[in-house]
Amino acid sequence: MGSRMSNKTLLYTAEQIAARVGQLGSDIKADYEKILDPEEQLLAVGVLNGAFIFMADLLRAVGGLPVEVDFVRLSSYQDRDSSSAEVVMTKNLEKEIKGRHVLVIEDIADCGLTLAWLLEFLKKRRPASLKVAVAVDKRARRETVVGLDYVGFKLEDGFLVGYGLDYAERYRNLADIYQMETGGH
Ligand code: IMP
Ligand code: MG
Repeated sequence: MGSRMSNKTLLYTAEQIAARVGQLGSDIKADYEKILDPEEQLLAVGVLNGAFIFMADLLRAVGGLPVEVDFVRLSSYQDRDSSSAEVVMTKNLEKEIKGRHVLVIEDIADCGLTLAWLLEFLKKRRPASLKVAVAVDKRARRETVVGLDYVGFKLEDGFLVGYGLDYAERYRNLADIYQMETGGH
């Protein structure tokens, strides 16, 4: 009682996250060094707000790979009558992605509907390639097939906060990732 952390259990420490993100950065560097032309830059598209911390760490872990950044912001509401989400884009891309190598950076894949919507939106604009990096792949509630190319941590279920993830806009700035013991779903 009394601890502000009492309703949360530590799941991944900042050290574990840093190690895993470092590995992902090396993988991304190795993969894109093979496909980027000398004058090309990877275009990293971050999904606001949740991805801001993961994106900042991941892009510093790609060891000097040339990277340009852009952001979208999405809000999704689950449609109770179908396995689809009503997704509203409240901030669009600012860059042209046609012919670009695009890496979407998202905090977490849960149902997967938000990412599925975004990937459709991006594919229509004909990028040269399109891949996805997520900090956490949470599988229990997945409703659609969505290809995740770079995954930090996999877990079945649980409502997570910290490292960009929020509960009602709280806890995004925690350095570790916690599982909420109450609330959430
Ligand atoms: P979905 O994959 O369409 O269900 O939506 C994923 C979005 O829901 C993520 O981008 C998060 O913003 C949010 N979300 C899903 N699971 C969690 C969680 O455990 N903690 C915080 N936000 C979550
Ligand atoms: Mg999100």
